[in-house]
Amino acid sequence: MTTRLMIIVGSVRPGRIGLPIAGWVRERAEAHGGFEVDFVDLAELNLPFMDEPNHPMLHQYTKPHTVAWGERVAAADAFILVTPEYNHSFSPALKNALDFLNKEWWRKPVGFVSYGGVSGGTRGVVALTTSTSGLGMVKIGANVELAFARAQIVDGVFVPGEKESAILEKEFGELLDLSEVLKPSRLNG
Ligand SMILES: Cc1cc2nc3c(=O)[nH]c(=O)nc-3n(C[C@H](O)[C@H](O)[C@H](O)COP(=O)(O)O)c2cc1C
Repeated sequence: MTTRLMIIVGSVRPGRIGLPIAGWVRERAEAHGGFEVDFVDLAELNLPFMDEPNHPMLHQYTKPHTVAWGERVAAADAFILVTPEYNHSFSPALKNALDFLNKEWWRKPVGFVSYGGVSGGTRGVVALTTSTSGLGMVKIGANVELAFARAQIVDGVFVPGEKESAILEKEFGELLDLSEVLKPSRLNG
């Protein structure tokens, strides 16, 4: 059975390198053959700042954008979050998109492709791990970490090194394994 992989582009600012990096992740995931890919560009999704009156845990959504986002995330089996490091954390757009929902994330595997300066976005991943764990997501072990990734963007396209390509394949394998293991514990679908 095909695993539905959602790839989320965590940065939304003009000129972001997150888009070409996520484009590489998408291209590799589609070539892998084991996934049906849903590519989410948060700039396109354009969620407002969290504007629901009720705690997402209650699942009493009042806004069409929340219902639509909830249905899309509920349909996913596994996630790769492509995240920059901003001020030693992850992007606010990604935090907002996570905060909108609750049970849709629960007991689903998550991997990260992080990037930033010398730390390769790892401080962002530490913060992101705390938030995704709070939502009941299960972090895989492999993590693509790209230091100074802008140097790997050529004519708007991300050019991966061998090591990061191998780590990304490892992420795919872990996500496939874990998504099956976790299915009985999910709170939806
Ligand atoms: C607001 C802001 C804060 C940043 N803070 C950090 C940081 O704490 N650590 C780091 O390694 N890079 C930091 N950077 C550099 C970014 O990781 C780098 O610019 C990256 O390209 C941002 O991703 P984006 O182009 O997809 O938005 C920061 C960049 C911005 C715009």
